[in-house]
Amino acid sequence: MSNLEFARAHARDTKIKLHGPEAFAGMAKAGQLVAHVLNLLVDQVQPGVTTEALDAFVFDFAVDHGAIPAPLNYRGFPKSICTSLNHVVCHGIPGPRALKEGDILNIDVTLIVDGWHGDSSRMYAVGKISRAAERLLEVTYNSLMRGVAAVRPGATTGDIGAAIQAYAEGERCSVVRDFCGHGLGRVFHDRPNILHYGEPGEGLQLKPGMLFTIEPMINLGKPPVKILSDGWTAVTRDRSLSAQFEHSVGVTEEGCQVFTASPKGLDRPPTSRQSSEG
Ligand code: MF3
Ligand code: CO
Ligand code: CO
Repeated sequence: MSNLEFARAHARDTKIKLHGPEAFAGMAKAGQLVAHVLNLLVDQVQPGVTTEALDAFVFDFAVDHGAIPAPLNYRGFPKSICTSLNHVVCHGIPGPRALKEGDILNIDVTLIVDGWHGDSSRMYAVGKISRAAERLLEVTYNSLMRGVAAVRPGATTGDIGAAIQAYAEGERCSVVRDFCGHGLGRVFHDRPNILHYGEPGEGLQLKPGMLFTIEPMINLGKPPVKILSDGWTAVTRDRSLSAQFEHSVGVTEEGCQVFTASPKGLDRPPTSRQSSEG
């Protein structure tokens, strides 16, 4: 391509939208609605409940609150949420499968509120789960929060990935390479890509006003995944357990605002929550 075309392509690849206070307010409202429904799902996740019943619960919640479930019909996705069980890495499609004691489940909710996207996912334990599964949920949550802690102006996307990878691999777990976090705002999936692995200082420099998700997928086994014949469901090739937590964040002058945090602390794994009412 010509020098001019190259320059344009480069600008397109590196220019990331910087958002102002109205966008942060919109993202906080959308993020808190997502956190609220994820909190309500804690009591819905029980042995015998189907993942399509959880989908219907979130669809009804969205309608009742004037929100749109972003996944529904997104690139042909047939449901309002993603439900990813056990060795499913992400993008599991809700269906007639009933939950059973010992399952671990990721529920990923994206709601559009006044045009802004709130995108968050958490892990849920069905009854008593194995010690290995408990440990995976703790490592995955801590991986997300290591990534969040790396967000500040002047840091890079590589700093986020490196923080996650160093921690997760130090815990003898592995980081999925095939999916990444993403810019969001009025669009669901935007630049920049937020890789959950990498080298400090690499990638794009973070600036106040950037909006993106961090959503590491961490496996007890090896990183490779495959996509099932439904075209969506990603599973670990070695069938090892996989987990994911996701927050939507904005870069501030001071560091980072987490739009999808739970004021009740319910965004943490079940084993590390404080037992308290309210
Ligand atoms: N919420 C997912 C994410 O974190 C995307 C789901 S897209 C869908 O980016 F089509 F699979 F629903
Ligand atoms: Co996301
Ligand atoms: Co999501």
